[in-house]
Amino acid sequence: MTRRTFVRGIAVLAGAAATGGLAACTNSGSGQTSVGPRSAAVAEAERARRVAGRSTVTARLTPRPVTFDLGGRTVETWAYGDQVPGPLLRATAGDLLKVTVDNQLPTDTSVHWHGLALRNDMDGVPHITQDPIAAAGSFTYEFVAPDPGTYFYHPHTGVQLDRGLYGVLVIDDPAEPGAYDDEWVVVLDDWVDGTGRTPDDVLAELTSNGGGMDHGSMGGGMGGSMSSPLLGGAGDVDYPHYLVNGRTPDAPHQFTARPGQRVRVRFVNAGTDTAFRVAVGGHRMTVTHSDGFPVTPVTTDALLIGMGERVDVTLTLDDGVFPLVASAEGKRGQGRALIRTGGGVSPADATISELSRQVLLGTDLIAAEAVLLPDGDVDRRHDVALGGSMSRYRWTINGRAFPDSRPLPVRSGERVRLRFINQTMMFHPMHLHGHTFGLVDGGARKDTVIVRPMESLEVDLDADNPGQWALHCHNILHAEAGMMTTLSYRT
Ligand code: C2O
Ligand code: CU
Repeated sequence: MTRRTFVRGIAVLAGAAATGGLAACTNSGSGQTSVGPRSAAVAEAERARRVAGRSTVTARLTPRPVTFDLGGRTVETWAYGDQVPGPLLRATAGDLLKVTVDNQLPTDTSVHWHGLALRNDMDGVPHITQDPIAAAGSFTYEFVAPDPGTYFYHPHTGVQLDRGLYGVLVIDDPAEPGAYDDEWVVVLDDWVDGTGRTPDDVLAELTSNGGGMDHGSMGGGMGGSMSSPLLGGAGDVDYPHYLVNGRTPDAPHQFTARPGQRVRVRFVNAGTDTAFRVAVGGHRMTVTHSDGFPVTPVTTDALLIGMGERVDVTLTLDDGVFPLVASAEGKRGQGRALIRTGGGVSPADATISELSRQVLLGTDLIAAEAVLLPDGDVDRRHDVALGGSMSRYRWTINGRAFPDSRPLPVRSGERVRLRFINQTMMFHPMHLHGHTFGLVDGGARKDTVIVRPMESLEVDLDADNPGQWALHCHNILHAEAGMMTTLSYRT
């Protein structure tokens, strides 16, 4: 499937009634009416989020072409201003955010607020929740951020996220004690843009070379050997660089603190095709939150973070210089930062033993009592079968590639159980917009969860945020090659 046919497909979809398009409501022809992004139900849900006395936080984002130094290597890319990651946006739960996006890119864009249960018409998915923001155009996102946590923002247009277009959004909890001395944001990324290929080139190569390679069962495209005992097929692309906070390991980002200080670290995986195994030399980490929501604290040597997942940890710092390593799972290469609390030279070799000790995934975590879904019967079940075609670079949900997908209908007020069934030999980090689901049997509340090869995973959610919500693999190449559908509210 070429980019052009994809775009044409989208246009057809937007015109079709099946997903609700952009209209307030559309009749799907089956006697059900889609609850569109501009419907009264969406406005009503937003009114319920408005708390009196909260502030308004304004910001401006300017996606544009830039020349950026990754640390010893300069690349042409697209970013939100001069830096990668883009500006850190911060608000308190209940605040109203007003973010104006001035599109200075030579093409359409959009901004999606990953993980937030916001109003559907501000979710930033072109043709599903809004029109694309045209080149030289502008759009103001305005929404209440209801839940505290670590989130991020990125375009929902093509593979633009795989350029430098991403930034972190932190929503503070007014009720949280904040039992730590400092807070660091650590953004992980796999990087190719400006190294002779753009992410669009990579996707075009995959889709045109796909013929003959068995991606569905081999779980690897270019360099089919990318696999990991934890994830099976671990990726399709061998990236030239892995970054921590926009830096290569040659010129790492440095954090400084004093020995004995307790630091909260917010990890965000903004990568496209890479899960990262992260650890800090000489330290163990206590996991406190997954995808913004609290978990029963658990201590570990290392974490495995899929694309789109966020994990918050705390650690108490020793005296010295310590590498923070983000190893590209199943691939060659790593990203790195340095933590300096005292004297000493940085270890040249960043092979740290913590990486090969205890590793936790999001699926190993347990929800904090306060964020467990209330007991209740499941009103509706949907299977979400994840497939990959045997002959081309085409990824599917329930046998169909987006935009030719079948939406999953739900009604407001229902408890919905999704069963992800991975029928491929690759892992897929599955992401649902506008909701935070609970892994069944008390697992963590999450919006992005790794589904391992040939495994099934069940999650529950309360359908309490009307609209049309993207549900897709957060391997952006997979999503672009079809692994996407919608959770579609109907009346
Ligand atoms: Cu961060 Cu639909 O994605
Ligand atoms: Cu995938």
